Amino acid sequence: PASAAGTAPVLGFTGVAASARDALTIPPEYEYSLLYKWGDPTGVVGALPAYRPDASNNAQEQAVQAGMHHDGMHFFPLNADGSRALLVMNHEYTDERLLHTDGATPWTAEKVRKSQHAMGVSVIEIALGAQGWRQVLPSRHARRIHGNTPMRLGGPAAGSSMLQTALNPAGDEVLGTFANCAMGVTPWGTYLTCEENFHGYFGGAKDADFQPDAAQRRYGTTAGGQWVDWYRFDERFDLTKHPNEANRFGWVVEIDPMDPTSTPVKRTALGRKRQESATCTLTQDGRVAVYMGDDTRFEYIYKFVSRDKVQPGGYAANRELLDHGTLYVARFDADGRGAWLELTQGRPGLGREQGFATQADVVVKARLAADAVGGTKMDRPEWITVHPHTGEVFVTLTNNSQRGEPGRPGPDAANPRERNVGGHIIRWREAGGDAAASAFGWRHFVLAGDPARPGAATQYPSPQADAFGCPDGLHFDRGGLLWIQTDMSGQAIGKGSYAQLGNNAMLCADPATGRIKRFLSGPSGCEITGCVVTPDRRTLFVNIQHPGEASDDGGGAHNSAWPDGTTPGSARPRSATVVVRRRDGGLVGT
Ligand code: FEO
Ligand code: CA
Ligand code: CA
Ligand code: CA
Repeated sequence: PASAAGTAPVLGFTGVAASARDALTIPPEYEYSLLYKWGDPTGVVGALPAYRPDASNNAQEQAVQAGMHHDGMHFFPLNADGSRALLVMNHEYTDERLLHTDGATPWTAEKVRKSQHAMGVSVIEIALGAQGWRQVLPSRHARRIHGNTPMRLGGPAAGSSMLQTALNPAGDEVLGTFANCAMGVTPWGTYLTCEENFHGYFGGAKDADFQPDAAQRRYGTTAGGQWVDWYRFDERFDLTKHPNEANRFGWVVEIDPMDPTSTPVKRTALGRKRQESATCTLTQDGRVAVYMGDDTRFEYIYKFVSRDKVQPGGYAANRELLDHGTLYVARFDADGRGAWLELTQGRPGLGREQGFATQADVVVKARLAADAVGGTKMDRPEWITVHPHTGEVFVTLTNNSQRGEPGRPGPDAANPRERNVGGHIIRWREAGGDAAASAFGWRHFVLAGDPARPGAATQYPSPQADAFGCPDGLHFDRGGLLWIQTDMSGQAIGKGSYAQLGNNAMLCADPATGRIKRFLSGPSGCEITGCVVTPDRRTLFVNIQHPGEASDDGGGAHNSAWPDGTTPGSARPRSATVVVRRRDGGLVGT
């Protein structure tokens, strides 16, 4: 019953060995091609600037080219047989050393602008022909959304004093989205992009007279905390001058991919966090439930349930559906049960005297609200996916090296390992099979890592499960196969606990049997993140993020030139979308 393909074998492909090779490796009965690399033109009519291998494309060109660091992605068919489609994807962050001809320093206004334009979202048109999937150039659908694209704020925090700035005294409009990591798709056909590590782009001089409050400290928006020097050339990122600007990031952003002129909307009802996933499913009475993670050590898993039912008629009929509803945080109990704890102003712990005068306070400071009601602090929740037939929900907890460290929370039932370097996957079922339920039952699917390492305390669901570390991307295809992508950090790959796990990889799991098989191994230094299997299950799109990234802090030499060069240093490595198909045209993963 787990396979829509009926008699087709599940995980019948030739497994790929763990590999440290600087190459993309897939099963021999499959083939792949490159579709969309950083710097490729998006396809916007009248603007098709070619990628310049020396990174000399300017900021204006970058605004209509593929951004860097491809992440979450979805496939939106444009015709009945799915041979024309929009591919919509996130660009999570930048490698400033690769982005500019002369590297990261010195910073200039033009570099800041190019950096802002290299994040956000791409909407590209693709078509399937005799030569496989190709990008349509130009395309009237093509669009780049980036760090300066005008958008609107919706929901309970819109217009609140916390969102008001000098540029936008009404607190209802904002320029741009960036740090776009995982994603979601609404039942009415819009794309949800998640603003994750937005905090790193805000800063200000360390000696400035700026005293961050508890929420700013919790969200990491403190002066001196910036990763890049945007604030020196773009004043709105200077927290000492515009502290509220950071409150306008960390949201789920709704984009209508079918209308390139539409204004994206940040949906504040869903809560502010380092947003990971906005995975939608329907409740039994036809409302939408959205599952979300917050990828920081000891942060939470959330659920939003809309007030109103989804209406037929696409986005036009559901334009405000995500602005009204109830936000919850998850508590995982030791007996295998769990509860969704309501984050509504006025509930116990969420009153005016606790700092929550309105629902705007609750959603802007969702982490503090979740503390107040007693959510379970998780090991960095990343992607969430819902089984297409059973409604069971799976979430990756990518790792947490600080679990059990002095002064930090110790292991609990849901996050059972101290210094959790391997990461894990939890599965849960909502009570009564209804996504609107306030209770659920949960268990582990995998405690990941290298089982051969002393003390690893791994648990795989079957003896026929390939080992992996740091699960991150997670995607159910329509047949119920679970695609798992890994994100061991660039510094960790091939070392210590990860020595035998090879490069980051993608695996395919059959939750019905617990079998897990490695399907793909990536080039050196990359993360595998973002994937979508087409509705006909014959094409798999996968994003290869930051090939060559040798260390977390971006200081090490790039150890790959994939996909343009064969040896490190021979070309700038480029994040890219890869198209994978079976040579016989069959269903992928079966
Ligand atoms: Fe950008 Fe948490 O992954
Ligand atoms: Ca991720
Ligand atoms: Ca990650
Ligand atoms: Ca990454």
